[in-house]
Amino acid sequence: MADPSWQGVDEYLCSKLLAADPVLDAALASSNEAGLPPIAVAPNQGKLLHLLVLSIGATSVLEIGTLGGYSTTWMARALPDSGRLVTLEFEPKHAAVARANLERAGLAGRVEIRVGRALDSLAQLAEEKAGPFDFVFIDADKENTAAYFDRSVELSRPGSLIFVDNVVRNGAVADASSTDAQVLGMRAFLDAAAEDARVEVTAVQTVGSKGYDGFALARVNPR
Ligand code: SAH
Ligand code: DHB
Ligand code: MG
Repeated sequence: MADPSWQGVDEYLCSKLLAADPVLDAALASSNEAGLPPIAVAPNQGKLLHLLVLSIGATSVLEIGTLGGYSTTWMARALPDSGRLVTLEFEPKHAAVARANLERAGLAGRVEIRVGRALDSLAQLAEEKAGPFDFVFIDADKENTAAYFDRSVELSRPGSLIFVDNVVRNGAVADASSTDAQVLGMRAFLDAAAEDARVEVTAVQTVGSKGYDGFALARVNPR
């Protein structure tokens, strides 16, 4: 399915528009060496997240799905020194790799990694009244996306943005007969978001070095 030109165009765009970045390169290299799956966002998507966080002047970010801390690094770099990013990760090994990467990036002081099932960590954050978060990036187990989105809105404020990765899954999202649990998870999320009066949502399909996928972007409405 993947067209070889997608990779070539991404290489062109990234070489043209993204500065050389040894810290981000090192985060990917150490993730690979540790055997983490190569599923971090593409560099140009990472920069999109960075620009969105910057654009809204966010001081607090919530991430669901840390992996090796690659997307975390892009977003945390958009925060002021006094800003805070909380990232949720189930796998202790992934969290350990991310911790080392964030320390190397000089970002450990503004990033808190919470290890455990994200649904539990989100309940804990609500209990602590840890919100509101200005920006949320949802990128964990796709089956739970609708629940993550609901909790994220609860932990947000009017004007907060919620970015959901991997919505299109090679086009499978539009297949009403799909039995794939991840696709069903994304369809359940879109069903819920479409009916959710708390937010306005769009979704965009993308191609690139990570294949054919897409994202949704929601803005939390005034109350
Ligand atoms: N955002 C990262 C990629 C995340 S990959 C980046 O772009 O760099 C998805 C991550 O979600 C994996 O590390 C996986 O271990 C984690 N994950 C899967 N199920 C989870 C759960 N129930 N709770 C928390 N994290 C989970
Ligand atoms: C997968 C997960 C992701 O978050 C992603 O961006 C790409 C692939 C996966 O689980 O296959
Ligand atoms: Mg993803």
